[in-house]
Amino acid sequence: MEIISCNLDETQWLGNLLGKYSERGDIFFLAGDLGAGKTTLAQGILAGGGVLGPVRSPTFNLINEHEGKFPFYHMDMYRIDEEEADLLGLEEYFAGDGVVVLEWPERISSLWPDEYLLIRLEIEGDSWRKLSFEAHGDRFKQILEHLLSAWRDRDASIRD
Ligand SMILES: Nc1ncnc2c1ncn2[C@@H]1O[C@H](COP(=O)(O)OP(=O)(O)OP(=O)(O)O)[C@@H](O)[C@H]1O
Ligand SMILES: [Mg+2]
Repeated sequence: MEIISCNLDETQWLGNLLGKYSERGDIFFLAGDLGAGKTTLAQGILAGGGVLGPVRSPTFNLINEHEGKFPFYHMDMYRIDEEEADLLGLEEYFAGDGVVVLEWPERISSLWPDEYLLIRLEIEGDSWRKLSFEAHGDRFKQILEHLLSAWRDRDASIRD
C-alpha cells in the first residue's frame, strides 16, 4: 500500500494516527534515504502516542526513551553495524512493553522480529514523499486498514 504525502503536515498527520492506534509491543520500522522524513514521521507517531515535548533525532545516542501513554523507544541505527547492534539488546526492546520506532532498520535486518510495520519513505520532490507500507503480522495489517480508511476519508489521492 502506498500513500503520497504532499507536505510535512501530512506526514505528521499520518504519524499521529499511527501513534494513536499504537499499543504496547508495537514495532514501527522507518526506512528511507537521508532526509526522506523518517524522524518527521517518528515525531508524529510519538506525539500521537501522548509524548509531550520535543523529539530530537537519536542519530548519536541511538536510543531515546520517551514517556507517552506507555514508553516509546525512538531509535536510529544509521551509525551502527550488526555486531554493535547485538550489544544493544534490541530483542528485549522488541519483546518489551513499550513501542519501538526505529529509523534505518536496514542496518539491523538480521535482527528483525517476525511482526512489525515497515514504512519506506522516498523523496519524490521538494515536499513530496512516497510512503510504502508493509505489514507483517495480523496486528499491523489491522492498523494499516484503519490508517487507509482514515486517509481515504481525508484525501482521495490514494493508491492501493
Ligand atoms: N512530505 C514531507 N514529509 C516529511 N518531511 C518532509 C516533507 N516535505 C519536506 N520535508 C522535509 O524533509 C526533511 C525530513 O527530515 P527528517 O529528519 O525527518 O529525515 P530523516 O529521514 O529522519 O533523515 P535522517 O536519515 O538524516 O535521519 C525535513 O526537513 C522536512 O521538513
Ligand atoms: Mg532521522
